[in-house]
Amino acid sequence: MSASVLPEPGTATPPVPGDQPASPAPLPAAVPGGDRPVEAGAAFEPVVIGFTCNWCSYRAADLAGTSRMKYPPNIRLIRLMCSGRLDPTFVLKAFAEGADGVMISGCHPGDCHYVDQNYKTMRRYQLLQRTLEQFGIEPGRLRLTWASAGEGAIFAHEVTTFVEQVRALGPLDWPSAPALTDGDAGCAAMLDPGVTA
Ligand code: FES
Repeated sequence: MSASVLPEPGTATPPVPGDQPASPAPLPAAVPGGDRPVEAGAAFEPVVIGFTCNWCSYRAADLAGTSRMKYPPNIRLIRLMCSGRLDPTFVLKAFAEGADGVMISGCHPGDCHYVDQNYKTMRRYQLLQRTLEQFGIEPGRLRLTWASAGEGAIFAHEVTTFVEQVRALGPLDWPSAPALTDGDAGCAAMLDPGVTA
């Protein structure tokens, strides 16, 4: 899986001349849940995972950042070469490991750099919504959006509205789902391989 993680908005530090280039950030093994509020009565801050396409939506996120457009820091971006690279198990694993919401974002239909892979993403999205519902997870915790490289404002808007939507749904707290404790194997067993191929 070719992926990298963007720093959270506002946390990037400028490079220091003479510094060695940093090695690529590893894909997190688990969604960090340590930043959830621990004090009684503290506001709920949802953890949202965003799977973005390298050619469009990841660049839209970059544009939003460099243009100083504001969007909630609740989202952790994971870059894929194409939204069609998204295996449904990635989404289930994110929920199983503590995410409250997952956003999938890619090139507009017809603009995919790999011809028609984002049409497969649409079908997987529909499959995932049905699967999540069967597990008692609100379909509103999953969103599919399109954003071209020049649509930083659209990307920021989608993130903002989605984070608010997940915040309204409340914490998911689904890490103890028994079928998911086996990690990828457990997730894969729940899905029809003929549909995910
Ligand atoms: S290259 Fe962006 S969705 Fe396929």
